[in-house]
Amino acid sequence: MQILDGKLVSQAVKDDLRKKVETLKQKALKTPHLVAILIGTNGASETYVASKVKTCEEIGFESTLIRYEDTIDEVTLLNKIEELNADAAIDGILVQLPLPKQISEEKVINAIAAEKDVDGFHPSNIGKMVQGQPAYIPATPYGILLLLEYYKIETKGKYAVVIGRSNIVGRPMSILLSQNTTTGNCTVTLCHSHTKNLKEICLQADIIVAALGKPEFLKADMVKEGAVVIDVGITRVEDKTKKKGYTIKGDVDFEAVAPKCSYITPVPGGVGAMTIAALMKNTLLAADGK
Ligand code: GUN
Repeated sequence: MQILDGKLVSQAVKDDLRKKVETLKQKALKTPHLVAILIGTNGASETYVASKVKTCEEIGFESTLIRYEDTIDEVTLLNKIEELNADAAIDGILVQLPLPKQISEEKVINAIAAEKDVDGFHPSNIGKMVQGQPAYIPATPYGILLLLEYYKIETKGKYAVVIGRSNIVGRPMSILLSQNTTTGNCTVTLCHSHTKNLKEICLQADIIVAALGKPEFLKADMVKEGAVVIDVGITRVEDKTKKKGYTIKGDVDFEAVAPKCSYITPVPGGVGAMTIAALMKNTLLAADGK
C-alpha cells in the first residue's frame, strides 16, 4: 500500500507555480490576483478561504478577501461580482460555497465572468470541460487528476466508481475519469444515495473516489484487493478530547481500508491540499493563459 501524498504533490505544484509567477512578473509586470468572497462565519468555509489566501501569499499571487455578513442580499453580492468582472486588475474570482439560503447559488455562479471563474463552476466552463475543450476544471477533481498523474496511476481500461454526485466534485470527477486522456481513460459508474447494490458495485472498482461527505462511509468489505482509493471527505466530527472540539474525518474508514489498497489518500494530507494547488493553477492560467 502506498500513500498518495497530497502534501508532497501540492508542494511540488506550488513550487512550480512560484517560479512561473516570478517569470510572469518579470515578463509582463503582472501579478496574478485572486479575489475570494466569504459570506458568513461557517467554520469550514473560514478554514478553506484562509488557506486559499495564505497559499496565494506563499506563491507570490495577490489576493483580496471580501467578507459579508450572512444577511447580505443577493443584489449586493451580484453587483460586487459585476464590479470585479469589470476590473482588469482581477484575474480570478471565487465565491465560497455554501451560500446562505436567500442567495441563489445558480445566479451567483452564472454571474462570475467565465474567464475569471477559477473554480470552474460556470456552465460555460463545465460545458467545455465535458467536451474536452480547454477550460477551468473544478479544483477538487483537477487536484485528484494531478495526484493520479504524479503517481503515474494507470487509468486506461480501469473501472472507476465515484460515490457522490455534487456539481463541485462527484459529477465533474465522473466525466473527467471517463475522458480519453492519460488520467481519465476509465469506465465510470457514478453512484449516489439512491444507488442499489453500492457494495457490489464498489467491489468491482479498480479506482474508487469517495465524495459523499459521510465520515468513514467506505468500509473494507466494499473495496477489492489492490484498489486505488481517493478520499474527498473532510467532515468535522465532534471530539471533546481535541483542543478544537472536533476532528476531521474522511469518507473512508482509513485504518481498515488502507491495507487492501494499492494506493490511498489520507485525510488530512490527501485531496484537500491538492484542491488548493489546483485552484492556484487555474488562477495562474487566468492571469497568463489568455
Ligand atoms: N465549497 C467547497 N468546496 C468549494 C470550492 O472548491 N469552491 C468554492 N467556491 N466553494 C467550495
